[in-house]
Amino acid sequence: MGNFLAGKVVAVTGAGRGIGRAVALGAAAEGARVVVNDYGVSIDGASPTSEIAEGIVKEIEAAGGEAVAVADDVSTMAGGQRVVDVALSSYGRLDGVVCVAGILRERMLFNMSEEEWDPVVATHLKGTFTVFRAASAVMRQQRAGTLIGFTSGNHQGSVSQPNYSAAKGGIISLVRSAALGLHKYGVTANAVAPVARTRMSANVPMELAEIGEPEDVAALVVYLLSDRAKEERITGQVYTVAGPKIAVWAQPRELRAAYASGGWTPEGIAEFLPGSVGVDPMPMLLQLERMEEAARDGSRPNAQ
Ligand SMILES: NC(=O)c1ccc[n+]([C@@H]2O[C@H](COP(=O)([O-])OP(=O)(O)OC[C@H]3O[C@@H](n4cnc5c(N)ncnc54)[C@H](O)[C@@H]3O)[C@@H](O)[C@H]2O)c1
Repeated sequence: MGNFLAGKVVAVTGAGRGIGRAVALGAAAEGARVVVNDYGVSIDGASPTSEIAEGIVKEIEAAGGEAVAVADDVSTMAGGQRVVDVALSSYGRLDGVVCVAGILRERMLFNMSEEEWDPVVATHLKGTFTVFRAASAVMRQQRAGTLIGFTSGNHQGSVSQPNYSAAKGGIISLVRSAALGLHKYGVTANAVAPVARTRMSANVPMELAEIGEPEDVAALVVYLLSDRAKEERITGQVYTVAGPKIAVWAQPRELRAAYASGGWTPEGIAEFLPGSVGVDPMPMLLQLERMEEAARDGSRPNAQ
């Protein structure tokens, strides 16, 4: 066992499978006491069972660690609050929360139903809010703590998962808001965009050029939860981890501005905008065009 997180208490949502499981095991192996939350659902969010979270607690205990299970649904306020309450009642403090829980309901935008939109946004975005909300109230009092959200490269947009993409974009903005709002209390907030072999990534209909294991993601999360990351003042960041690669995303900023005197009219803008402000080409649209071309040629599309 390492000691990167010695003495810390960490809660992980979606910790029953895939990346969340690796994060829970990795945090415990580095000395953290862990709240293992998992609603135990299928990939589309159906058929909950408490056995999934309990199984990971047993795995952690078998490896000599300490953990407690919470099988609640984090898309409810009560579920998010319970994750935090169990940390406090079991271990007396809460140093980090990692919101990994997620589901998929894939559908093109023009066919998507409310039943496909709402639970996906509720699990990812609201499920991050409910835990951040409850945890940040505790961390503000402690004047210390770390919040970690899970986003995806798909926050840039998605052909067939607009619900998931919108939720993942929202998580980045929520993380940045947490970084800003809790800065003066010594609390940090960051987001991780993983690419790792799990049941969720097995559904991606293309070959991923860069992919790794859940344990790669866990190593980055453990670092972000540690005092070493705090010493480096890491907050408000989005990191991709994909096998051997770790990348930091740019902060959103205006790319190009131009000014004209007088009030704008549509005609004036039509004359002015294309040659001065212009556009910023969308990388995923260029990739989509390449894939459409490859599909026409009969070769298998390859995501960058
Ligand atoms: N695997 C990848 O390559 C990849 C890529 C981009 C983003 N992500 C993100 O990483 C996270 C983990 O993905 P994964 O691949 O390990 O998925 P996974 O399906 O293996 O695990 C997700 C876990 O979340 C749990 N869960 C679902 N709804 C819940 C709820 N309401 N409350 C509590 N738990 C709930 C599930 O029971 C499951 O055990 C997700 O947020 C996903 O969007 C994964």
